[in-house]
Amino acid sequence: MSKLRSVVRGVGGYLPPKTVTNKELAEQVSTSDEWIVQRTGIRERHIAAKDEMTSTLAINAAKAALADAGMTAADIDLIVLATSTPDQTFPATAVTIQAELGITRGAAFDVQAVCSGFIFALATADRYLQSGDFKCALVIGAETFSRILDWTDRTTCVLFGDGAGAVVLEAVEQPGEKTDQGILTTRLRSDGRHRNKLYVDGGPSSTGTVGHLRMEGKEVFKYAVGAITDVIEDAFRVTGYTADDITWFVPHQANKRIIDGSAHKLGIAPEKIVITVDKHGNTSAASIPLALAQARTDGRLKKGDLVLLEAMGGGFTWASALVRW
Ligand code: ACO
Repeated sequence: MSKLRSVVRGVGGYLPPKTVTNKELAEQVSTSDEWIVQRTGIRERHIAAKDEMTSTLAINAAKAALADAGMTAADIDLIVLATSTPDQTFPATAVTIQAELGITRGAAFDVQAVCSGFIFALATADRYLQSGDFKCALVIGAETFSRILDWTDRTTCVLFGDGAGAVVLEAVEQPGEKTDQGILTTRLRSDGRHRNKLYVDGGPSSTGTVGHLRMEGKEVFKYAVGAITDVIEDAFRVTGYTADDITWFVPHQANKRIIDGSAHKLGIAPEKIVITVDKHGNTSAASIPLALAQARTDGRLKKGDLVLLEAMGGGFTWASALVRW
């Protein structure tokens, strides 16, 4: 029986021009290039300028994704932005993006699931497209984590960077089979018992301040590989695919050791992993679409490829998606 699927029409990314290397960070806090590379795989990250907001990065990524799709903003009737660093407490940053793109129809809203945000946003948009309520969606992950970092805390400030990535999804009738093009499944999980292991110590309703990111790194690390493999195995179970069928594994880029550990546990070959953490650091909700944009730009990602996405982050939240490009 035929089925409406959310097909990826385009992908784009945007990174603020300013880069900061590990060596430059070592001039501000007691750390070293060797420590950061060995523990995380990160070598440098992009940092937004004062006048670059999350919406600025997101709009650039959205325009790149629309260009890649050969579409215009007039085609879009849904914008779902994943971010934990909105321009303002409200309105949703998605409406700023909508207005700046000149879109006056449909709906635009934000989704907040920290580093898993992009897959949560993708799943949300997918449901609306499958229902027929909307036809064409921009799903964006955009962050300016540099604004919520405690730049005196070496245990966190070396890990993150700023950036944005976006995909254009279109609802397309498909045969309703395993070989369909588009999003085949999204699997979402949360467990709020772990909410104090990775959080921001401020907010409108608690302190009235923005706050800074705090993390029990070891606890996050301990939980990550198990959570990631669980949710990926769930995606395999639902779709009938296995690790051998995957063309590209595009994980959330938090730490190379977590990525390699998960891939090894799942039996995914190292040459199938798209890695950007060395150049971008952890850009939270932006990391997966930025990695997709990289794989698209360098010619790896092609029509028909089976792409596995995965993320884990604050909450804890974790999620996977299987997409036929
Ligand atoms: N430079 C040098 N030394 C450091 C630094 C640094 N930047 N940071 C910590 N250290 C020191 C510690 O003080 C400690 O010193 P001590 O032994 O004298 O006490 C030592 O290094 C070891 O510290 P650990 O915290 O035990 O280091 P660990 O091996 O666990 O690595 C890390 C830390 C990289 C943070 C790791 O735990 C990790 O990657 N965790 C997962 C984090 C993550 O992925 N977070 C993102 C989740 S996604 C999201 O939602 C935002």
